[in-house]
Amino acid sequence: MAGDSKRLFETFNLVATTLGAIFLGLATAFVVGAAYNERFEGNSLPIWQITSGAALLVGVACGALLFRRRKKETGGTTVGIATDDLFYVPDSSISVWLKPTDGSTEQIRRATSDIPILLIANLKGGVAKTMLSANIAAYFSTRQEAPKKVTLIDLDYQGSLSKMIQRDLPLLSNGESAEFTVACSVESLFDRDLSDSDCLLRAETDFEEFKSFRFYSCDYGFDDFEVIRQFEWLAGIEKHDVRFLLRERLLSEEFQKNSDIIIIDTGPRLTLGSVNAIAAATHVFVPTTTDTRSLEATRTFLARLANLKFGPEQVEDGDPIAPNLKVIGAISTIVSGGSAAEESNSRLERTLEQALYTEDRLGALLPPRPLFFPTRLRKAGPIFDTAQTSIPFWSSNNRKPFKEIGEELESRLIHDCFTNF
Ligand SMILES: Nc1ncnc2c1ncn2[C@@H]1O[C@H](COP(=O)(O)OP(=O)(O)OP(=O)(O)O)[C@@H](O)[C@H]1O
Ligand SMILES: [Mg+2]
Repeated sequence: MAGDSKRLFETFNLVATTLGAIFLGLATAFVVGAAYNERFEGNSLPIWQITSGAALLVGVACGALLFRRRKKETGGTTVGIATDDLFYVPDSSISVWLKPTDGSTEQIRRATSDIPILLIANLKGGVAKTMLSANIAAYFSTRQEAPKKVTLIDLDYQGSLSKMIQRDLPLLSNGESAEFTVACSVESLFDRDLSDSDCLLRAETDFEEFKSFRFYSCDYGFDDFEVIRQFEWLAGIEKHDVRFLLRERLLSEEFQKNSDIIIIDTGPRLTLGSVNAIAAATHVFVPTTTDTRSLEATRTFLARLANLKFGPEQVEDGDPIAPNLKVIGAISTIVSGGSAAEESNSRLERTLEQALYTEDRLGALLPPRPLFFPTRLRKAGPIFDTAQTSIPFWSSNNRKPFKEIGEELESRLIHDCFTNF
């Protein structure tokens, strides 16, 4: 559907541009012809010049308009839904990451995880990915009935999650302090020379309440790491397929045995780390703010996930790298309170859902409706303030939304094949 309208638009554009060019050529011929007449045959009537000049001006104006429009629209399509102009969707060609796989990755691509590997992601920045990662991890690891063994991974070189966790742990329980250092950087997960058990051991935290909490931290060094590994792979210097390094690690017996859930925070970009997370994850949880630009970005992100799950739509040469991936849901974040805002948020959520579920490829990636979680994460001063030095979940005033989100995640995971979770 989107592809058809794009082709139609391109054909129209081509015809219009050609007609414009012909018109321009004719107008120029008229001007030159008229000037020639006057100069050599004494025809002094200005009518030729006036009509030709006007035609020339109209031709130039049309050409400029078409050029501008074409430049704006190149590489994109408009999805026809109730609010037509809301979703401008760039083509989701991500062919670098869809490079054909070879036989050596067959086994790891087919393997399945016994535990949920939850990726919190969106290509839109600042939508509370990190906020949710930290608080959902806190909820699962400390909940009273059956705390879970949580492995939390920061894959964003900005390191916001790492800073929040490192600062937080000493402040955790009733003001009690504890020495805590994050010894394990996320690069170890990608290091094939390091055994799974060593890799696990290094990430253990030494805080009493977090016996079953492992954390992999990230900082700006990971930026270089990602670029270099990607370059080496594309240049053929690195023979091992770098898209599945994290999957190999997280699906290893050691990791599966020692975690009940793995939670991954990513940055707003499709780089080596995020692609590895997509290839490794069982589920993606998608936070979005409820403004038009974020919803557009969310749709684009989901289209890209569909390409990574099903293989490229237009390019023939490419393989799906995350065939089992599912979206567990979306959540509206940093929203305002009040009934008018609630109403507007509901409307935007329904509009996005309406657009998404009509597309076959997206429909197969998404959960049964509703896509959006019933809880929205409200914009709240205390959550923002606490997040500067700690995980907001530890303060009882902030706990409610994260508990509700955790419970909804749990019920969707149980419903979606992790019955023992
Ligand atoms: N419920 C909330 N109330 C108030 N502020 C919030 C809330 N949730 C998140 N924030 C703030 O919004 C900002 C963005 O949040 P966060 O860093 O979690 O987003 P992100 O999606 O991880 O961003 P990035 O794409 O840069 O990684 C942060 O300053 C955070 O403290
Ligand atoms: Mg973040």
